[in-house]
Amino acid sequence: MRWKILPSLYLRIALSASCMLLLASQTTYGDAIIEGERMHPKQGRNGMVVTSHFLATQSALDVLKNGGNAIDAAVTAAFSLAVTQPRSGNIGGGGFMLISSEQANQVLAIDYREKAPSQATEEMFLNKDGSVNSDISRFSHRAVGVPGTVAGLALALKEFGTISLQQALAPAIKLAHDGFVVTPRFSSGLKTVEKRLRTWKATEEIFYKPGGTYYEPGDLFVQKDLAATLQRISDNGAKEFYQGKTAQLLVEEMSKHGGLITLDDLKNYAPVIREPVHGNYRGYDIYSMSPPSSGGAHVIQILNILEGYPISDLGHNSATTIHLMAEAMKRAFADRSRYLGDEDFIKVPMAGLISKAYGESLRGTIDSSAANPSKTIAPGKPMEFESSETTHFSIVDNYGNAVSNTYTINFSYGAGIIVQGAGFLLNNEMDDFSSKPGVANAYGLIGGKANRIEPNKRMLSSMSPTIVKDHGRNFLVTGSPGGSRIITTTLQVIMNVIDHGLNIQSAVSAPRIHHQWLPDELRVEEGLSPDTIKLLYGMGHEIKRKSSMGAIQSIMIDDQVMYGAADPRRSTSLAAGM
Ligand code: GLY
Repeated sequence: MRWKILPSLYLRIALSASCMLLLASQTTYGDAIIEGERMHPKQGRNGMVVTSHFLATQSALDVLKNGGNAIDAAVTAAFSLAVTQPRSGNIGGGGFMLISSEQANQVLAIDYREKAPSQATEEMFLNKDGSVNSDISRFSHRAVGVPGTVAGLALALKEFGTISLQQALAPAIKLAHDGFVVTPRFSSGLKTVEKRLRTWKATEEIFYKPGGTYYEPGDLFVQKDLAATLQRISDNGAKEFYQGKTAQLLVEEMSKHGGLITLDDLKNYAPVIREPVHGNYRGYDIYSMSPPSSGGAHVIQILNILEGYPISDLGHNSATTIHLMAEAMKRAFADRSRYLGDEDFIKVPMAGLISKAYGESLRGTIDSSAANPSKTIAPGKPMEFESSETTHFSIVDNYGNAVSNTYTINFSYGAGIIVQGAGFLLNNEMDDFSSKPGVANAYGLIGGKANRIEPNKRMLSSMSPTIVKDHGRNFLVTGSPGGSRIITTTLQVIMNVIDHGLNIQSAVSAPRIHHQWLPDELRVEEGLSPDTIKLLYGMGHEIKRKSSMGAIQSIMIDDQVMYGAADPRRSTSLAAGM
């Protein structure tokens, strides 16, 4: 699949096109910085970047300022996050990138999700007694899937970008080589997972000072090995990661510690350009990630169920609205457990899952005033039609392009394992497979045969990078980290904008809720009124309070004005426009 017009033409088209008016507020909200400036369309180019780290936002914004497109800026942001936010930004993991071109009238997805190594087996995480050994599936070299980030970013740039890989890597190399100033979030993150990160000497040497003391806010954090790895990728291209010295270091790391990834696994890794799932909600076109993510399917499925209710009249975060959302979420997550997996290996009944008819039939099973206990809900029967820590960023350029990218190493700091000599953390994405049908993964998600471990298969994800279009124009670019909460967080920002007419910052900041069928509990962030919670109890919901869920970095374009909204749940987030 390719654009109908070449991306390199965008620049020429765009230079002759009138510039889009940009408006971004300069505000502080919680710890997050939301800044931008007002610019009249005639004053020059414009664009908007929202990421979870201000240094990545600034690197990407510089690319837009120099005339690059949203894809150039996205790849630059992703490499910069790999340096400045090692808990989730990465070159040792994988993800999904949605790209929308208004000129080509097309939205496509780059799938650079990790794959199981070729020696992986269905029982690889089972103890002799048949129980699941989650230490191995989460914190060992066997937890690591074949990384896709470098290949995916290089593919995005080659097919749709206008700058070179060297240019996209330059800010990241500088940040790794010269260092950056440690923030309170960076420092506290390393203290929180200290036990895991000190398990491996190579990891401990990177993240703690000689003598073992902590990096404190204000210290300079330099990553010489990572700088050298990024420089080799800059010199030799993505194949350096998959066939060069970096590949050798990764495979040595594996063979020293019982990991499964081989040189052939790395050499054979390839990202895939896929069609996103596409639905419609109250007249807006919703594009989101297709399998191996479950995210897009369930965002659209839940919206289809809710479309039959007057959500706007029922009110934002009212007890009735939350009840209906929770009931719709339960049914979608029940289906997730049975039907979703890597479509290169299994048949997902996608057309049925996201059909309006199936949404309507599920709606018919909802009692509008009482919760159905999850044990009474089983995966439904969508008709066959023939026919945890992660990070998201959103970027819009002046040329009608939008990028919505979510990538991850799974947990914060992934498996906690640095490739010795190469300076980057490895993912623990193998835990996203269903190690045993019916046994929950780290996010409490139950899986079945569709997501069982098979060699070279991609593990099921919840990542939901999403682009909403309004009459062919990019309207909302959004997505979030948060494991299973990714799906419901993304859903709520869409509903907050479309149903409740909230401005994008309010839509991002508003308290969120989450239900994932099992466990049978309705998670709510602080901020819901006590009488709403009381009403929900009265309907039969088991309420669990959470301090925060997700971190959604979003852009809304309304009447040609770009509004960026960084999630205040991440203190380093920054939305910046030009
Ligand atoms: N590792 C979390 C996800 O992909 O959903």
